[in-house]
Amino acid sequence: MGTAQTEFTAEELLADHAVAEPLVARGIRCHGGFDETGEYVSPRTRHRVPAIEAWQAKHREEFGTEILHVPLETWPANFPNVAQARFLIEKGVPEPLIATLTRIGTVEGFGANIRFLNPGDFQKHFDESIAGTATAHLGTGLFEAHGRDEAGWEEEAGHKDMWFAARDIAFGDPDAKIDVDAMLARMGFGPGGSGDGSVLDRLLPDDIDTNVELIANLMVRVLLIEVQAFHTFAWADAWLSDTNLVAGEGEAARLVSYIRADETPHVGYLKTAITEMRDRTWVGSSGRKHDGAEMVGRIWDACRAQSLGAGRAVTRKAILGEVEHWVLKRPNGTDLLAEFHSLATTDEAGAAA
Ligand SMILES: [Fe+2]
Ligand SMILES: [Fe+2]
Repeated sequence: MGTAQTEFTAEELLADHAVAEPLVARGIRCHGGFDETGEYVSPRTRHRVPAIEAWQAKHREEFGTEILHVPLETWPANFPNVAQARFLIEKGVPEPLIATLTRIGTVEGFGANIRFLNPGDFQKHFDESIAGTATAHLGTGLFEAHGRDEAGWEEEAGHKDMWFAARDIAFGDPDAKIDVDAMLARMGFGPGGSGDGSVLDRLLPDDIDTNVELIANLMVRVLLIEVQAFHTFAWADAWLSDTNLVAGEGEAARLVSYIRADETPHVGYLKTAITEMRDRTWVGSSGRKHDGAEMVGRIWDACRAQSLGAGRAVTRKAILGEVEHWVLKRPNGTDLLAEFHSLATTDEAGAAA
């Protein structure tokens, strides 16, 4: 057994590093900050990051298996691609990019819903002990830290507002000129729509507690979104950092780099806990035992298929809708749209057909 600490209180998992300077974007106090050397420090990582490392080491030691890895290459690159984003801005049609950043910020805000998951006494659903694991800390700090990172907490803004700030820095306060609510409604985020109104389709035996399946399912879905987001970060950085293309002297791209840094512990704790559950025996309500690898596998396959299939198609349709909406308002819209599509990457050209 390693000697690293593996038991933490919620307060510890939510604790910040001391920062020399807070992060302020467009006058808004955001989470995180900078150390004495000017290095960005993510919020709530004082104990959370070493905790994740300790849980991973403990798992390898006790189970002899690696923590699952989700390759970014599972998904194709962002739509629109960098060339298409540049093209739209250069042709004076920045609105679809404004829409995209608005959409990303809005989805980030929904991420806060993870804090409403309530694992309760999670141990009773597993045969092996979960003491000193990420799984045991989901309801006591990890989900809460994740939710606070995404949507902000108390006076500190989180990712939702950081994306909106990046947008407003790059495009010089577009709210004044654009009806952002109408934009969101066109992309399927109308009033009453949470953007994720799915009810749980049971994938596991009835014997498995519904709440356990709900938690495992949401964790896998969120993990896949979190990993895929690294495409979005690279894409946004490529054009937001171009000072000839957008305003703000690179400030918008820097904000995105801070958001990216904050996502690493999200990916870290989710893949650790999912691995811990995968390698344990699940105990149903009747007392029957179920192979964790099979339980997680069923959820994994369904969520992965959804992410690469229907989920991707819905996002693409929403963004393409915005591109068409704005490009076709221009006098030479049809030609611009054709040129936009001609810049598609190979896999997107296939998806568009
Ligand atoms: Fe986030
Ligand atoms: Fe996240």
